[in-house]
Amino acid sequence: MRLRADQAVDVLRAAGEPTRLRILALLAREELAVLELCRVIDQSQPRVSRHLKLLAEAGLVERFPDGAWVFYRLTHGGQAAELIGEILARIDAADPVLTRDAERLSAVWAERAADAGEYFARNAARWDEIRSLYVSEAAVETAILAAAGTGPFHRLVDLGSGTGRMLTLLGPKAGQALGLDLSQQMLNIARNHVAEAGLAGCELRHGDIFATRLPSEYADLVVVHQVLHYLADPAAAVKEAARLVAPGGKLLIVDFAPHKLEYLREQHQHRRLGFADGEMKRWLAEAGLTKVEVDALPPARTEGLTVKIWAAEPGRARQRSAA
Ligand SMILES: C[S@@+](CC[C@H](N)C(=O)[O-])C[C@H]1O[C@@H](n2cnc3c(N)ncnc32)[C@H](O)[C@@H]1O
Repeated sequence: MRLRADQAVDVLRAAGEPTRLRILALLAREELAVLELCRVIDQSQPRVSRHLKLLAEAGLVERFPDGAWVFYRLTHGGQAAELIGEILARIDAADPVLTRDAERLSAVWAERAADAGEYFARNAARWDEIRSLYVSEAAVETAILAAAGTGPFHRLVDLGSGTGRMLTLLGPKAGQALGLDLSQQMLNIARNHVAEAGLAGCELRHGDIFATRLPSEYADLVVVHQVLHYLADPAAAVKEAARLVAPGGKLLIVDFAPHKLEYLREQHQHRRLGFADGEMKRWLAEAGLTKVEVDALPPARTEGLTVKIWAAEPGRARQRSAA
């Protein structure tokens, strides 16, 4: 339904302020936490929060709390969102203020990536031990095997393969297996694990989950295990992972349900404290994977984390367009 004139005025009024337009332009890139926006915009949290409140009241942005952090993203769909999209699209890509904001955002990410890279390098050898801090690994792995299905798989791709546990777990069912990771230290350990497991058809490559450079529909089993909560733009990673799924294939995303263990941000570089089903299913559906099964593995102790497995397959529409 089209906007009434007074609604259009509200939308334009909300967007029609320099800082708020900058915020909208940043959120058009990806969802951001308030503190991240403050750093890029270089304004105090109360001021940025006031702007965000106005944008949310006008229906232009959505607020979603994640532990003690609050994230914002552009509202999805609807006339107001489209109007904002059109306005942003008509702004010169070389606009000096927005370009500077984009550069500052890249600098924030570069800093975060360096911290995370250092964290993974430092913890590479201990990673298997860290993984098992959370829940019973045996139970999770049994559930992952069940969610993957019996196979055999033609090609397995493990994105953010870390020390290679998913490759050694699922690799024996796959003709070929490929693990991609940004950390050379992780890749080195994974190479040892894969060799010990005697997985001859398994390759490990340096690569970025956001731009894998692999062909579309490359694999019949794609796995993203305990990676999304570290990422700046988990939706983009889901999209790239989904792109790799062949017709009749499956994407397994394993991560945490929403939780409140705030210290994981400080001590373990987590950015998101878990993911809600609704959010994950929306990302998957937007990427063409509409058949989704969800499994939940609650922790053994109350302070622990619930592990979720989202097993997603291409819907009919995508299968047809592939045919
Ligand atoms: C928590 S570990 C999980 C590793 C493995 N999937 C597992 O469960 O054992 C997260 C891994 O994601 C990798 N990673 C982080 N950002 C990445 C990116 N943009 N592209 C590829 N790998 C990334 C890290 O280097 C790290 O090895």
